[in-house]
Amino acid sequence: MTDQSPSPRSFSAAAPLQGRIAIPGDKSISHRALMLSALAVGTSRVTGLLEGHDVLATAAAMRAMGAGIERRDGGEWVIDGVGVGGLLQPRAALDMGNSGTSTRLLMGLVASHPITATFVGDASLSGRPMGRVIDPLSAMGADITASPGGRLPLMVRGLAPAIPLSYRLPVASAQVKSAVLLAGLNTPGITEVIEPVPTRDHSERMLKGFGADLSVEADAGGTRHIRIRGEAELAPQTIVVPGDPSSAAFFIVAALIVPGSEVTIANVGLNPTRAGLVEVLKAMGGDIELIDARTVGGEPVADLRVRHSALKGIDVDPAVAPSMIDEFPILFVAAALAEGRTTTTGLDELRVKESDRLAVMATGLKAIGARVAESEDGLVIDGTGGNLLPGGAGIADHLDHRICMSFAIAGLASKAPVTIDDMAPVATSFPGFEALLESLRR
Ligand code: S3P
Repeated sequence: MTDQSPSPRSFSAAAPLQGRIAIPGDKSISHRALMLSALAVGTSRVTGLLEGHDVLATAAAMRAMGAGIERRDGGEWVIDGVGVGGLLQPRAALDMGNSGTSTRLLMGLVASHPITATFVGDASLSGRPMGRVIDPLSAMGADITASPGGRLPLMVRGLAPAIPLSYRLPVASAQVKSAVLLAGLNTPGITEVIEPVPTRDHSERMLKGFGADLSVEADAGGTRHIRIRGEAELAPQTIVVPGDPSSAAFFIVAALIVPGSEVTIANVGLNPTRAGLVEVLKAMGGDIELIDARTVGGEPVADLRVRHSALKGIDVDPAVAPSMIDEFPILFVAAALAEGRTTTTGLDELRVKESDRLAVMATGLKAIGARVAESEDGLVIDGTGGNLLPGGAGIADHLDHRICMSFAIAGLASKAPVTIDDMAPVATSFPGFEALLESLRR
């Protein structure tokens, strides 16, 4: 997973992007589909699964803990579950690669099973904080030994039966919420997560879909109380994974900033807890049309028709951050091409993603000639008003797929080439990204 030789690529001002594309399956939903199928009693089938390295790391880990997971010709995945409580002791360390979602959610699963698992990952993942899941999972009885700073490599010794918990999230994090709910699946009684700021709700939707006894209640202030009854029996499902809005994001912005473009992106997931970018770009004047809004696999989906637009800078309300948390790098690129100033705040979480995305985006955008100021929790960007950026710089990948893709798109609106030192990280979430981009340039 990590031993490929670097594959640098240059991107520069492009002819209009034209055509219709379909983007790969949603990463968050794909992880959960594999995990819950692996815990159901019987055989589940998943189509549209994202076959990126992150999701394949989850598949390998669930196999190592006893599930049967096979890819059939034609792309259907068939999963034989072990039943909640039935996970087996893995015989080797679980290699999480670059994937924070795999790590945090699987730590939750292991925490309430009578097994011990060691989690390892690449240099990026090994620098990311795991204390946010170690705290609640330890309170449920898991014995967790982490590297200094609460980081990987770490070992989780699960406890069964675990102790049910009522946990108020100290950070807006769907991964932490999901880790606790997944631990709750094999815990007697009711496990509760209290969520003051809503985050992506794929775990809640899918747990219900698999038949778990899960309720969500919002109090007067909007705080959500999510309760799951443990020792659940999950029934196998047939799941269709919608396209990933976080992957669509790169093509939405590409079409908006490359003059003359018109691109239709099919089958984009538009769960309201994920759709913040589309709203923000529309507020900036982006011409984004939703076509054939429908439901796929219990999630709202539409095709998006996006046309080149004269974008205007705005103040982005920090309240939308959780619904577009992975889309800020590419929003910053859109802002660099907009007319006027875009201000973002409340984005401290971006500093602990696959890279410090505030620092890395600020440095890279400045290197290609954008006007950017970095604050503690956001960026202020003065755009070109649609003129090309100077470009002509090299960008370090920082083992961060979204950094690579964001600067590839920035290159399409730059005079001189923008060179990404290694595009390999893109395979974690978006295999085929470059080929898809190429297909729109013909
Ligand atoms: C994810 C939650 C988010 C997001 C990540 C996927 C998930 O992380 O950034 O890419 O699938 O639950 P946080 O929970 O750390 O915000």
